[in-house]
Amino acid sequence: MNEAEGNLVLLAIESSCDDTAAAVTEGNRVKAHLVSGQRVHNEHGGIVPELASRAHQRNILPVVDAVLRNAGNSLEDLDGIAYTQGPGLPGSLHVGVAFARSLALSQGLPVFPVHHLQAHVLSHFIDTETPPDFPFLCCTVSGGHTQLVLMRGWDDIELIGSTLDDAAGEAFDKTARLLGFPYPGGPVLDQYAQEGDPEAFSFPEARVEGYDFSFSGLKTAVLYKVRKMTANGEELSPRALKDLAASVQDAVRSHIAAKIKKAIKGKTPASLGLAGGVAANSALRKELREIGAEAGLPVHIPPFEYCTDNAAMIGVAASLLSKGEKSSPEKKLVPLPRAPFPSKRSPVEV
Ligand code: KG4
Ligand code: ZN
Repeated sequence: MNEAEGNLVLLAIESSCDDTAAAVTEGNRVKAHLVSGQRVHNEHGGIVPELASRAHQRNILPVVDAVLRNAGNSLEDLDGIAYTQGPGLPGSLHVGVAFARSLALSQGLPVFPVHHLQAHVLSHFIDTETPPDFPFLCCTVSGGHTQLVLMRGWDDIELIGSTLDDAAGEAFDKTARLLGFPYPGGPVLDQYAQEGDPEAFSFPEARVEGYDFSFSGLKTAVLYKVRKMTANGEELSPRALKDLAASVQDAVRSHIAAKIKKAIKGKTPASLGLAGGVAANSALRKELREIGAEAGLPVHIPPFEYCTDNAAMIGVAASLLSKGEKSSPEKKLVPLPRAPFPSKRSPVEV
């Protein structure tokens, strides 16, 4: 513990999907963090849950060991262990939760269960002297989630909209697959889109109430378009691939932009943010900056290493939200694969 500032030194563990990640954090500072990605899924064109949990089993001990070494800490220096409680893949969560609680029990340390999607929002507060002002409107876009969250304070983080079907990253990956790009297709699609015409094809925007999103219609529209274009057995030309990529990217960008603009009107935030792996998308980053400039609002996008799944955001979220509250590892703080977005900051115990 850093006595002067009262900041907890935490070991944090994240294993909700296909990355095994560990970090040592002190308050909102990161002493060290590591992510071990799992390439085993690439050849399958998507994440295979059973392979993910086996890879977590293999990786977790070496990753934790290495991150402690990189931070220059030993287990004796820790004030507690933070871990992702959910949502996520059940088998993947189980590995991280069992590891974290067992280690905490053996060391006599408290635990800090963290909601993965709250942590994505709080990634904006990592290592920064200029955190977002409240109310903070954050759009979290990843391969598994698409959410709009309004954070009014540490005790008040409200989910105001989410996807009714596919996540934005899923929409990119599925349409990229239809264009023949390797998995995960989002980054490749982004590259092709750089040289394409976003107005070459028009894909209808989903009509969804309020601040919710829908992306599943897009892949069907792209599927029909590609089928039509290849009906005579021809391959898609490089020009067509670039134009299709740019038009798909534009459809996703435009849907997300419309909801953010609507939330700015309806919720009058003081700052804007983008989190999750899809925050790497060039069109989306540019769009958010333009929306911010137009509305006169500061825009925050964390470094990419804290946008994709990582354990630094888990440790920092535990520190910022716990306010000194600790839980015993003996409590039944089990994995919650479908954990609802918490309306209060307390950990979910079952
Ligand atoms: O948050 P993340 O690393 O992982 C999880 O969802 O767990 O997000 C990965 C997603 C994938 O769908 C990937 O295709 C997408 O982010 N992605 C992108 C870009 N970079 C990553 N999508 C569009 N454009 C990009 N540049
Ligand atoms: Zn995530």
